[in-house]
Amino acid sequence: MTEATKVAGVRRAVAERIAAAAHVPITEAEEALEYPPDPAFGDLAFPCFGLAKARRAPPPKVAADLAGALVASPPVEGWSAAGPYLNVRLDSSLAREVLGNVLAEDACYGGGSEGAGKTVVVDYSAPNIGKPIAFHHIRSTMIGNALVRILRARGHRVVGVNHLGDWGTQFGYLLEALAGKTPAEVRAKNVRELSALYVAGNERAKKEPAVEDAARAAFARLERGDPGSRALWEACRDVSLREFDRIYRRLGVTFEATTGESFYEPRLAPLLADLERRGIATTSQGALVVDLSADGIATPCLLRKSDGATLYATRDVAAAIYRAETYGMEQALYLTDQGQSLHFKQWFAVVRRMGFGWAAGLVHVPFGVLLIYDEAEKEWTRGKTRSGRVVLLEEVLDESVRRARALIAEKNPALPAADAVAEQVGVGAVVFNDLKNRREKEVRFRFEDALRFDGDAGPYVQNAHVRACGIFRNAGRGPEASADVSLLAEPEARAVVAQLLRFPDAVARAAREAEPCHVAGSLLEISTAFHRFYHEHRVLGGGDPRVEGARLLLVHGVRVALRNGLGLLGLAAPEEM
Ligand code: ARG
Repeated sequence: MTEATKVAGVRRAVAERIAAAAHVPITEAEEALEYPPDPAFGDLAFPCFGLAKARRAPPPKVAADLAGALVASPPVEGWSAAGPYLNVRLDSSLAREVLGNVLAEDACYGGGSEGAGKTVVVDYSAPNIGKPIAFHHIRSTMIGNALVRILRARGHRVVGVNHLGDWGTQFGYLLEALAGKTPAEVRAKNVRELSALYVAGNERAKKEPAVEDAARAAFARLERGDPGSRALWEACRDVSLREFDRIYRRLGVTFEATTGESFYEPRLAPLLADLERRGIATTSQGALVVDLSADGIATPCLLRKSDGATLYATRDVAAAIYRAETYGMEQALYLTDQGQSLHFKQWFAVVRRMGFGWAAGLVHVPFGVLLIYDEAEKEWTRGKTRSGRVVLLEEVLDESVRRARALIAEKNPALPAADAVAEQVGVGAVVFNDLKNRREKEVRFRFEDALRFDGDAGPYVQNAHVRACGIFRNAGRGPEASADVSLLAEPEARAVVAQLLRFPDAVARAAREAEPCHVAGSLLEISTAFHRFYHEHRVLGGGDPRVEGARLLLVHGVRVALRNGLGLLGLAAPEEM
């Protein structure tokens, strides 16, 4: 594909014309070009605020003057002013470029290279061993998974890390509760049983202080490397990982490293000694802390308790140093709920004090709470039933798949491999519901909303992809680069092209802002534009093979963008459903 047929080519051509009329540098005009929120306004828009300031004129006047001065000629079909914006309507060269790019880039459409040479560590999922994966764990797991894929698509080298919670005083309760059991007996249990023991131990400790002391002593033995404690702890870890892996497999989640908090244990004593020696950490009432008041953080970062125990923050500092040494990252993203913001602020500040250059690249990527609708009680809950039972991720996935299976039986009873498709649709529905809004917003999950075929939901997007695939199954021909895209003149066709044009930018923006919702939003827009087109215009059998060829190329664009976008979010793209 030649340079002139790239999308950048049309943007450039538009920028040249504006630059000449407005007397600004071409690159400046090109960088300022935006996509109007509603493609009906135009394909590109040039905001006139900067120019207005320089000319001491109102922006709408500047826009109107420019629109009056510029003449329509290829690739521009028309210039118009809308408030402070100069809107640009492009001719069919836009469709030629966009659809040409889709054909040429195929599975890479939506990708980019701005991340080339940059390494990013994404720390996500990170459940605690000894407890089952609760429904709310989907947030860290699937936002993280989407970011890994999106950043990779934009050229970054990405290292996905699962920072398992497998260390800390709380495991003392578990060990205490398991006293007298053999590792083999522990291995025969499941995580739910382990968790029950842990909860019971915690409850008893509230009433009997002796239990707490015993738990503390049990963890101390583990820290000292006592072989019996170690074997029991390892058995708990194995039981947990066995279950976690089953869920990760279902969600299509893989990590480059599963290095839990315990992994950093040998590095903690030297780290603390170093911090103390350099005067960064000081002793206060027997505890080792870093005073952060100079950083505007009122609460000091506690790194070692007076009883000698290290903390979550201690292990995070050690982990970051290890990752910088091992992976040489420019950036590290940490996916956790907003409740942990102070924790990250604190230990990021500690690492900055240590003088590491990479400390500036540490980013906490927080997200809001997940509410689930309790159908029996008719109320929204924070993932706990009235009786206090935690809703598990696996049971939500199972139920969603069951309902997807029922919907398929109703809509398409003859579908081959219906169970496999139901798994893709059911799991995808839960995942998409979590990714469709800005991550810091609270998420509400209700089966009937998440499983919609006609709303802002995963099945809706998957179904649009299925339709596009179905057209090709019936077409008996594939997409052809030679198709005459000037035949895609209908507003519904133009609207599809406009959304396909925006897709790679949506991916780039998602990477920049660590917001998968931009990809989800783009997929919904493409699906809606495609459904509209499909209802108004027949693709096959209209009589004119030239029109059919052009429309098939458009449908191919939809198919590729949806497939790629679903993949970036961690959803499957079935071809039939
Ligand atoms: N295990 C922690 C939790 O369940 C999340 C860990 C996040 N990652 C990190 N490096 N702190 O809350």
